[in-house]
Formats: sequence, structure tokens, C-alpha cells
Amino acid sequence: MTHHGLFISFEGIDGAGKSTHIDGLANAFRSGGRAVTLTREPGGTLLAEKLRCLVLEDAMDPLTESLLIFAARRDHVVRVIAPALLRGEVVLCDRFTDATFAYQGAGRGFDLQVLSTLERWVQADEGLLGDPAGNQPMKPEVETVIEPDLTIWFDLPPEDAALRLAGSRVPDRFESQPVEFFHRVAQGYVQRQQGHAERFARIDASQVRDAVWQCVLQAVVEKGWLGAEVSDKT
Ligand code: TMP
Repeated sequence: MTHHGLFISFEGIDGAGKSTHIDGLANAFRSGGRAVTLTREPGGTLLAEKLRCLVLEDAMDPLTESLLIFAARRDHVVRVIAPALLRGEVVLCDRFTDATFAYQGAGRGFDLQVLSTLERWVQADEGLLGDPAGNQPMKPEVETVIEPDLTIWFDLPPEDAALRLAGSRVPDRFESQPVEFFHRVAQGYVQRQQGHAERFARIDASQVRDAVWQCVLQAVVEKGWLGAEVSDKT
């Protein structure tokens, strides 16, 4: 799929503090005249938001969880992400497939090979755009996958993240996991970063909020996607 958009994902364990910076980056791109699609996973479409509720609230085994997350992702990619990229927009997505490798793979211990297969199927860009309603057959050959151009990874020790989350809201199925789970998830992000170093920007999320924001901006400015003057305005 040839497009002129930008796809940026945001990752990190629960409590790493990515949300306010995603909004800030959306504003920075809009100030620079770019159209922005701000979205999240699991979620981002009517169907995917329904699946999100199930995944965050209902007990299920790791395969069911992984399949629901990839089903939500497929609908999201077909209906929202790919069309926005084709329109030349900046897509800012709060979590994407790296989260599946970190949470379901490293966290739950689910088979990484199966996740890789699902990733290739679900993010295959052949046949993605023809017909979201599913009335046209997909092309069977899968050449390339849609994946982020940049992944901003908010890296924070799990103990610090737990302190930030404590008492903030009723925890969902993931937030209520013990700290050992988040150590595994954090390790999963390290492995994912090692395998995709060219698109990962690691940010030390234990810094004060403004320092984190400056790092977020720097990661995007370094790519040439925002002018350096933006950091003076924020
Ligand atoms: P959020 O609270 O950052 O929106 O993320 C929702 C939760 O879903 C979070 O605890 C991480 C989890 N999650 C997975 O387990 N696998 C995934 O692939 C994604 C996208 C999220």
C-alpha cells in the first residue's frame, strides 16, 4: 500500500503516562497543518470498542484474548488506519501490535510464533482496502504488513507504574495484575525494541512530565516530521 501518511504508535506498561503526550502531539501536528487521526487499541471502531470491553472485563484464556485483540485490530486497520494513511493523515495510535507481543506474548506466555502469524494476516496490506463490509474476496498473497513508522515507547519501572496507578480508578483485568506480570511485559517491550530498533524510540518515562514531553517531540522532530520550532511553542 503506497501512502503519504504517518503512522505513530505509543507503547508502555499501564501507568507509564502516555495519554497526555499523545494529545499534545496531536495538537502539535495540527498546528503544523496536518490532519490527525487519534485512535487507540484495543478499540478505534464500533466493533473494536465492543471487543475492548470484553477483553478488559471478561475472564478468558490467552488464545481467546489474543484472537479478540487481533479481530479488533483487523477491523481498526481496515476501517480507520489504512484509509487515514491513504488520505495522507497522521495516525496517532495509543498501543498497537507491540502491546500484543508484550502483554499476551511475554506477559501471558502465549506462543510468539502464533502471534507473528496473526500479525501477518491481520496487518496484511493486500486486499485491505477493497471492501470493509467483506463482500469482495481478499487477495490471498500477503507481501507486506502495515506497521508503525515510529513507536514511542514510554519505559518506566513496573514498581513506579504501580505507584502511579494506585487508587486512580477501578483496575481492569490487566491493571489488576501483580507487578511480576508487568516485569514480564516490560521485558517483552525490550525484546520487541531489539527486533525493531529502527522504528522504536525509547523514552525514560520516570522523568518529570515536561522532560518526557520534550523527548516525545525530539523523537518526531528527528524524523523531520515536525519543525524544531515546535518545541519552543509548547
Ligand atoms: P489502555 O488502558 O492503555 O488503553 O490499554 C488497554 C489495556 O489493554 C492495557 O492494559 C494493555 C492491554 N492490551 C493488551 O493486552 N494487548 C494489546 O494488544 C493491546 C493493544 C492492549
